[in-house]
Amino acid sequence: MLAIVVLAAGRGTRMKSTTPKVLHTVAGRSMVQIVLAETAKLSPAQQVVVLSPELSQHPLDGITKVIQDTPLGSGHAVLSALDALASTITDVIICCGDTPLITAESLASLNTLTADVALIGMEIRDAVETAPYGRFVCDDAGRLIQIVEVKDATPSQKQIRIANSGVYKIKVSALKQLLPLIKNTNAAGEYYLTDIVHLAYQHGLTTDFCVGAMEDFAGVNNRAELAYVTHIYQERLRQTHMLNGVTMLAPETIVLHHDTSLKKDVTIHPFVTFGPGVVIESNAVVYGHCHLENCHIKSAATVGPFAHLRGGVIMDEKSSIGNFVEVKGSHFKTGAKAKHLSYIGDATVGVKANIGAGVITCNYNGFQKSKTTIGDGAFIGSNTALVAPVTVGDGAIVGAGSTIVNDVANNSLALTRPEQLEKSDWAITFRAKYTK
Ligand code: UD1
Ligand code: CA
Repeated sequence: MLAIVVLAAGRGTRMKSTTPKVLHTVAGRSMVQIVLAETAKLSPAQQVVVLSPELSQHPLDGITKVIQDTPLGSGHAVLSALDALASTITDVIICCGDTPLITAESLASLNTLTADVALIGMEIRDAVETAPYGRFVCDDAGRLIQIVEVKDATPSQKQIRIANSGVYKIKVSALKQLLPLIKNTNAAGEYYLTDIVHLAYQHGLTTDFCVGAMEDFAGVNNRAELAYVTHIYQERLRQTHMLNGVTMLAPETIVLHHDTSLKKDVTIHPFVTFGPGVVIESNAVVYGHCHLENCHIKSAATVGPFAHLRGGVIMDEKSSIGNFVEVKGSHFKTGAKAKHLSYIGDATVGVKANIGAGVITCNYNGFQKSKTTIGDGAFIGSNTALVAPVTVGDGAIVGAGSTIVNDVANNSLALTRPEQLEKSDWAITFRAKYTK
């Protein structure tokens, strides 16, 4: 039976962060969660994750957690996990928690490998001498006999293009025999898991490898590499959506969240960012430069350009939220509109209600939030402040520039504007005073 062991207890010093490396996110999910989710698709009998003590409380349901008290190296990390393996486990796939581009498909090639110690290698194409990966050293027969970390490599070993992806499939019997033999006599003073290859060779066990694509196994040790894997991950998400029938006018400018749900015939204009919890139904259009999170945009609704939706927004069919409008925790019913320069928070906006430019719901008194209800077919004139809690009835009209503190009855006109003062020819006298 197969177990997956994910190594995630390293210090991650190269990230220069107070956040542990494997908790840095790609498309809104931590790298370790991504690796666990992908490897779960292989239906292993057990998943084990090796964590540092500071991550001991990190919620990871259904996963066996092992704490590596001191990060003495990847070999030591796997050794720490051995006792946690169920007695039925015969083979272990080991992955690193900092390689979020791995997919279940990219690991399938391991199925063909039956050696005691098997690995996935990858071909380095750029910066061959400096790429921060262990190099595969083979004998004349092409048999893998050693992995040399780049820090410990000779100039000619640094030229080797086939590098260690950090994915291994090793028999439990080989792990038990060889892991205790790993020494820390290397440039980093760490117990390298990679040394298991040379030990296998020395002890007459079999080794083998296949070669996968760099795009599936790139590791993250610093922020630049985090940006690189994010770029590829986003590209994959965009491809998936486009192949499912979503139009993206400038796909490279769209930032998706891993849980973004876009139905077919949705159109996304350039520079749109998706946070968590966005669902968009068919034929809705998101214009450029919007930031959307926690919202459900139904069929044929339109958003933006330059709109910000957050905190549980529901837009029913054909509703519309336009330029420079921020909407939080509100429900726009069918055909309701707020097209320009507004803040709408904790509100219900009735069927076909129209909210004019510059309308603000004053939903917060410094201590608590209150609700605004706008009835079906109501019309809120421009630059109105709706001081919540307040209700504007069905079909009511609020005159421009009003401050509404009391409820407005159905079909009434409410107006708090001061009377207009007019002095005829006053302007002529005024100008004459300054232009003699
Ligand atoms: C490692 C490999 C390298 C490979 C690369 C692939 C070793 C010695 N080297 O290098 O051959 O090309 O990954 O990305 O393994 N970890 C622990 N506990 C520790 C140390 C590390 O859990 O004490 C975990 C880290 O969290 C990480 C993984 O092991 O997920 C690899 O460690 P890292 O320090 O990133 O190794 P690399 O230098 O990238
Ligand atoms: Ca790494």
